[in-house]
Amino acid sequence: MDISYLEAEILQRSERRIVSTAIDNLRYYNEKIYRYLKRADATQVLYIGIGHGHDALLALLDNRVEKIIGADPYISCDGNDEEDYGKLLGLVEHYSLENRLTLYKGTIEDFCASRSDLRFDAIFMLDVLHHIFITRSPITRSPLADLAVETFRMLRSISTDTTHLIVSEKTRRGLRPFLSRIGIRYSSADYSTKQQFTQWNRLARKGGWRLSHLHNYVPHSFRRFKFLENTPLGRLTLCDRYLAYYLPQASSP
Ligand SMILES: C[S@@+](CC[C@H](N)C(=O)[O-])C[C@H]1O[C@@H](n2cnc3c(N)ncnc32)[C@H](O)[C@@H]1O
Repeated sequence: MDISYLEAEILQRSERRIVSTAIDNLRYYNEKIYRYLKRADATQVLYIGIGHGHDALLALLDNRVEKIIGADPYISCDGNDEEDYGKLLGLVEHYSLENRLTLYKGTIEDFCASRSDLRFDAIFMLDVLHHIFITRSPITRSPLADLAVETFRMLRSISTDTTHLIVSEKTRRGLRPFLSRIGIRYSSADYSTKQQFTQWNRLARKGGWRLSHLHNYVPHSFRRFKFLENTPLGRLTLCDRYLAYYLPQASSP
């Protein structure tokens, strides 16, 4: 499969958005987020807030998954705009993936209301929760807590008993947020609106999900320090992102 067109699009977007990423980083990220999802089980997955969709598209090209539905209202200040939407449609056409990647232009709330008939093998929420629920307070103590629990419940309504829910979020505390707060390290992330893992976890549990695995995300450039994935040291040093893998709680008899 010739991925040069996707590579060119990634490069162009990196320049437009002043972010740096490359196909190797995306492939590494996909390896992590798909790590507990067997290919045989990945028939249909949902990307909430799919955005530029380069990671999703690469997952299809690498045959990690059969079909993807992406839901995103394309809110410009959240990092993806009309241009990203148009570019993703262009990529889908270029790679003739019309039967494997469907885009729904709207919020996850509207998607669930209009497509309650669908069920997914996996649901990805990658860098999205803190865009839907924006607060500088710990979210469990904010008025948004109940709404977030409602969203997790809503996701249960489009799940089976074996659906995987994968959440990727940045941390609020740790070395990297600290260095960026005191101005030593540049980061485009506003760490003050991010939540510690325990915050989202409490709400996900109330919404009907149970944690199966939790890992620090070791950035691609530090990938040789893989051991940091599973130690508090990772959270406190090089890793400012966590990946949380959920399964549905057993339904009551
Ligand atoms: C930071 S971007 C993440 C994009 C992509 N998932 C990634 O990891 O690069 C956050 C995305 O969430 C989307 N978003 C915001 N509110 C949403 C909602 N209520 N439902 C679905 N997506 C939403 C935004 O439009 C934006 O594309």
